[in-house]
Amino acid sequence: MSTDVAVRVSGLAKSFVRETRGRASVVPVLGDVTFEIARAEFVSIVGPSGCGKTSLLRSVAGLLDVDAGTIEVDGKAVTGPGRERAVVFQDFALLPWASSLDNVAFGLKLQGVGRAERRRRARAALEMVGLDGFADALPHELSGGMRQRVGIARALSVDPDVLLMDEPFGSLDEITRRSMQEELLRIWERDKKTVLFITHSVEEALFLSDRVLVMGGKPGRVVETLTPELPRPRTRSQESSEAFTSMRDKIWETLAC
Ligand SMILES: Nc1ncnc2c1ncn2[C@@H]1O[C@H](COP(=O)(O)OP(=O)(O)O)[C@@H](O)[C@H]1O
Ligand SMILES: [Mg+2]
Repeated sequence: MSTDVAVRVSGLAKSFVRETRGRASVVPVLGDVTFEIARAEFVSIVGPSGCGKTSLLRSVAGLLDVDAGTIEVDGKAVTGPGRERAVVFQDFALLPWASSLDNVAFGLKLQGVGRAERRRRARAALEMVGLDGFADALPHELSGGMRQRVGIARALSVDPDVLLMDEPFGSLDEITRRSMQEELLRIWERDKKTVLFITHSVEEALFLSDRVLVMGGKPGRVVETLTPELPRPRTRSQESSEAFTSMRDKIWETLAC
């Protein structure tokens, strides 16, 4: 296989069993999802609520067993979580009683990294997201944007090859969200990690990504792939360019049907 494929998802299918009034029914959620992500590529998946985006991301993270299909990361079959992948969740998923530093260091602890080394790496990751002055702060002392920076620092601290992000900015206000998008791009330009970014914002997907996969249908599958031809580094003025608005309209058309 070619070495520049970081993530390969092929023929993925997943159903859930749902119980309604004592009767079990099988609900297909993902049906034949297939795509690849090249190394260092930034790929977004956009689609309406309930189309299976989180299920797909959890599958790639190794947190959800699938019924059919295969997932490979760095050429190896995914059978569970692995240290080459890190997840950033929408709800931050921080330990409420632990400082920013301890929250970031937690992932390293799980990997068996020694105390001094994990504190050093956690500090470096906090610095990367601009939170060096907040190492001792508890989550409730931080704004939503800062909490999500801690979530991103935690993912970055383990130095994963692939960053899996499930609507990470979905619960942030618009102003914070835009600055976090710019910050994420800054980190990505520097580190060139492979990113799978889930969002329901078409504009966010276009602004960030090399490629946008549109998910839809029941069960969910990739119904369209777009390649935003926008030069990097991205700037906000690109959002009013013809290339941007025509792609945005095309995605909206796809989502509407
Ligand atoms: N653990 C589960 N058990 C049963 N149904 C689930 C489970 N997880 C997700 N679903 C259902 O699968 C569908 C897709 O959910 P999800 O992957 O979260 O979609 P999205 O992230 O696009 O909103 C939804 O109808 C949801 O209710
Ligand atoms: Mg979701």
